[in-house]
Amino acid sequence: MIGRLNHVAIAVPDLAAGVQTYAQTLGAKVSEPQSLPEHGVKVVFVELPNTKIELLEVLGEDSPIAPFLEKNPSGGIHHVCYEVNDILAARDQMIKEGARVLGGGEPKIGAHGKPVLFLHPKDFCGTLVELEQV
Ligand code: CO
Repeated sequence: MIGRLNHVAIAVPDLAAGVQTYAQTLGAKVSEPQSLPEHGVKVVFVELPNTKIELLEVLGEDSPIAPFLEKNPSGGIHHVCYEVNDILAARDQMIKEGARVLGGGEPKIGAHGKPVLFLHPKDFCGTLVELEQV
């Protein structure tokens, strides 16, 4: 059911430093920062030929990445995002298979203006999974 890998997300303690690493050291094309208050993060996208890397920084008080950064103070891989054609059908399939959908199960609009959902890491090999409808 899942399609392409849309992006790998890396939580970082300092977005400007992360941008510097990817733009200067690795020579990648990096987007302008975007604040997503509804998701509690500030984000940039590193555009690679075959996928994207999302760098995430804490935004606001209740950022969902704050506990992760407490455990991983220098940053780390936070989630992977797979594309699906129909997010509601995908969600219903996940629930039928016994997987837990986070945040009440209603899709939110993600960084690309498309609906996204997150799935519980304990149900997916210890990795937080984002589904994005494309
Ligand atoms: Co993401």
